[in-house]
Amino acid sequence: MVLVDIHCHILPGIDDGSKDWDTSIKLAKAAVKDGVTHAICTPHTLNGRYTNHKDDIIWLTDLYQKKLDEAKVPLTVFPGQEVRLSGDLIDALDQDDILFCDEDGTYMLLEFPSDDVPTYAQDTIFKVMQRGITPIIVHPERNKKILEEPTVLQELIEQGCLVQITASSYMGTFGKKIEEISRKFIEAGQCACFASDAHDLPKRQYQYSEALKKLSKEFGSDLAQQYQDNARAFVNGDNVQLDWRPLGKKKKFWLF
Ligand SMILES: [Fe+2]
Repeated sequence: MVLVDIHCHILPGIDDGSKDWDTSIKLAKAAVKDGVTHAICTPHTLNGRYTNHKDDIIWLTDLYQKKLDEAKVPLTVFPGQEVRLSGDLIDALDQDDILFCDEDGTYMLLEFPSDDVPTYAQDTIFKVMQRGITPIIVHPERNKKILEEPTVLQELIEQGCLVQITASSYMGTFGKKIEEISRKFIEAGQCACFASDAHDLPKRQYQYSEALKKLSKEFGSDLAQQYQDNARAFVNGDNVQLDWRPLGKKKKFWLF
């Protein structure tokens, strides 16, 4: 069985994820134990704190694969980036300094600032999509603005974005509210797949398989299979389509 994790911070020493090689190996073992067979290593870039260049990430991911093979950890890793929506994004694309989920540059992980969806988001997304790139919005369920106004997400999906929800969000690790909004997005078909977004943090275990099990129980095994297929399609640059609906309106209980 193939299980692809499209978003994790397991490369050592280049962002707020793994701090050293030992930790990176430990995280890889945890991923494998959770059933992950392939992982895209996606350090932050352009987020104001970390800028990680494409060539450095490719070099480090190659070295990581060698160390994993030596340690006999059966995990295949690919180089990637978690790209922050920023004024520098289009420049970085022009300079060929962006890594995608797939080799052909079809899918790009796109992160918003944690408390906002900036007003220029739609404009930048439009420019990105003009280049034939489909942004995958990562963990919208943890974004303060989207939590307050969940319909913001569907405007971005209408524009052509896809969505990844963090497995732990759906498992309740970040609290009831985030779990609930994750479920709502899933129920409305607005999410394409889960990912671990693994960092080396206490109380942040790999919960990818657990989340898929929960998904299967709550929404059926076909959807759980589709999430796995979609994650695999992202690495391969294959087509993924969301069959989504707008979020249901809140019931106005005083009407009858
Ligand atoms: Fe991340």
